[in-house]
Amino acid sequence: MKRLWDKGGDADAMVMAFTVGDDFRWDARLVAHDIRASQAHARMLASCGHVESGIAERIIVALAEIGEAHARGEWEISPEEEDCHTAIENRLAAKLGDEAGWVHLGRSRNDQVLTAMRLYVREACESLAQSAESVVESLFAIADAQGDLALPGYTHLQRAMPSTVGLWAEGFATELRDDAVGLRGATRRALTNPLGSAAGYGTPGLSLDRSQTASELGFSSVQEPVTAAQLSRGKAEAEVAFQTTLLIQDLGRLASDLVLYATAEFGFVALPERFTTGSSIMPQKRNPDVFELVRAHSAQASSDLLAILNLTAKMTSGYHRDLQQIKPPLFGLLDRAAACAEVMAHVLPGVRFRADRTEAAMDPSLFATEEAYRLCQAEGIPFREAYRRVGAKYRG
Ligand code: ARG
Repeated sequence: MKRLWDKGGDADAMVMAFTVGDDFRWDARLVAHDIRASQAHARMLASCGHVESGIAERIIVALAEIGEAHARGEWEISPEEEDCHTAIENRLAAKLGDEAGWVHLGRSRNDQVLTAMRLYVREACESLAQSAESVVESLFAIADAQGDLALPGYTHLQRAMPSTVGLWAEGFATELRDDAVGLRGATRRALTNPLGSAAGYGTPGLSLDRSQTASELGFSSVQEPVTAAQLSRGKAEAEVAFQTTLLIQDLGRLASDLVLYATAEFGFVALPERFTTGSSIMPQKRNPDVFELVRAHSAQASSDLLAILNLTAKMTSGYHRDLQQIKPPLFGLLDRAAACAEVMAHVLPGVRFRADRTEAAMDPSLFATEEAYRLCQAEGIPFREAYRRVGAKYRG
């Protein structure tokens, strides 16, 4: 398998392995998107008259076959190939011979990776938004089934005011639904077409119709000037990572409540045995590891976001290989969030609030504010006065 930049010289094996790192593995998820972009590029080259339409047609068909074969697991990107762009072009050359070389006219891997990443994050945001919405549904199901049950509301983790299971569930559901809206809105920067910016300085002497690839690939604008494209790498990713972090942190807080509510001391919820894990030493244990790990994943999200932000901070303009390192934190974060949302949607329907325990926790102190309001209205005294009178009962 040949590298695209092979000019006949030797490459050092250790340096090659280091520079590729895990990128060839992460790139598996970009294959379908790079293929779509390559097909749009070939079609555009033909309509601009740069490539014979017969050749472009064969390229487009061969690319489709390569993509289908990848989806069936028939080939993988090898470390020697560096990335998905090389792997796809190598397979195109294996099918079409020298004709395959036309596909790289007017592009570079630098604009290819930008394009593939944008197509990928657009899809990932939609799918993550849907996963968040399935958690929302599970929460509304809890609200429907047990919403009227009284539940203490806490501030500072001290009993504060009366609340209900419905208010608890709907609060989280509303925020998670908003996180889904945030994710769908996070694609703004992924909606401008970098394809045709090539290495970052355009294609001197070759005029391309970048609006054609934009409309074929669902971009709403063409990214101009060409020098903006590389400056923007990492920004769409950071925006998506930020919204993903908000989602996963809500899931982590939901999980944290459930860890607490499942303790013997609180005992507000019961978890079916199949959702708990045991201890190797203590025969009685039934642990809510699933919620603890959702919380742990949420803790890592901010490091992923920061890693993405820090990669481009103070970087000079133009492409740098550092940019490749955006993939591990971004893909890791997206995977983490998807797994957390999916497992929460799966487990929440099994969570049962225990009426005996939540009712028992509703001590009279929770009604102190209400009592002060009543006093205020019944006696026509200022709230501060009513507050003092009721407060006196709770001193010492
Ligand atoms: N794997 C590379 C990346 O993610 C692809 C672009 C390579 N371009 C280059 N000039 N070496 O950035």
